[in-house]
Amino acid sequence: MNIDGVPYRTIWRASDGAVSIIDQTRLPHEFAVTSLTSLDDAVRAIRDMQVRGAPLIGAAAAFGLGLAMAADSSTDALDAAMHALLRTRPTAVNLRWALERVGERLRQCPPDRREAAAFAEAEQLCEEDIRSNHAIGAHGLGLIRAAWESKGETVNILTHCNAGWLATVDWGTALAPVYAANEAGIPVHVWVDETRPRNQGASLTAWELAHQGIAHTVIVDNVGGHLMQHGRVDLVLVGSDRTTACGDVCNKIGTYLKALAARDNDVPFYVALPSSTIDWELDAGRAIPIEERSALEVSRVVGLTPAGERVAVSVTPPESPVANFAFDVTPARLVTGLITERGVCEASRDGLARLFGEVRR
Ligand code: MRU
Repeated sequence: MNIDGVPYRTIWRASDGAVSIIDQTRLPHEFAVTSLTSLDDAVRAIRDMQVRGAPLIGAAAAFGLGLAMAADSSTDALDAAMHALLRTRPTAVNLRWALERVGERLRQCPPDRREAAAFAEAEQLCEEDIRSNHAIGAHGLGLIRAAWESKGETVNILTHCNAGWLATVDWGTALAPVYAANEAGIPVHVWVDETRPRNQGASLTAWELAHQGIAHTVIVDNVGGHLMQHGRVDLVLVGSDRTTACGDVCNKIGTYLKALAARDNDVPFYVALPSSTIDWELDAGRAIPIEERSALEVSRVVGLTPAGERVAVSVTPPESPVANFAFDVTPARLVTGLITERGVCEASRDGLARLFGEVRR
């Protein structure tokens, strides 16, 4: 996507061999590009969410293996790097998927070829992610177009967290159809859930949409149900961090409540995901490991003062315990459809099998 006329991806290999990322912890107030030069840098970037979003976490892990191999290309170092990267964020399956894919390729190479092979595979994975997300945009566009044709006026889409281009290498998943609709001249307006505790909606999705000139409104997380009751949401579009072989969808905490409200109000609830986000080894969403993050993300809010200083302020009594579950699972029965790079399907084993028969367990 373009930032002030300059095309960017969220991650790329710089000419000095380092890996460049857009540091998402600084947005929306500062656009900063940071260099990762070691495995430790890559581990920290994923763990501390300088890069986040399921597909981007996978890409960052792949580049992390390249950085690890540049320092030590032995099989022991490869095992240690895979272990360190895998531990950073447990829920998004793209991390495991990318590590297994690159790791397998590296094990087939002699150590002196592993660095080049890891970076080549990471680049390849990025290209595939971009192609998949672009295709998701084209398939999701059909749904938005249909809503526009039946309604004849602006299509109101509600989204949760950030499943835009910042969550991927480019284009995004849930926002790819929104960008495609905007390009096609279909009037859209996006309700952006702020997405506590880290506010990926308020700080990242809103920033993306503002830069693309797409009409949007930031709302607090509990507003969606009210808007749906009053006919002000035409469809819900969210991403996924892990989708099971039966179509259960794990996504940012709060997604399940949006799906319940959507079902109660007959609002279509779609999930956009590349197939790298499908966990073919799991049937039931209950088996997905749910990341629990630092209590500080809940007990403190980070923002800019009027003087432009970035500060964190406490919002809870110091003696109150805090829990911070990062994801929840929306059962397949509440999902109207899955938008994948191969088309839209029912959220079910049969629906997924129809599109991905050859990769099933
Ligand atoms: O904790 P995050 O910011 O990595 O969570 C991201 C999400 O939940 C996204 O909705 C998800 O990764 C879908 S991605 C394109």
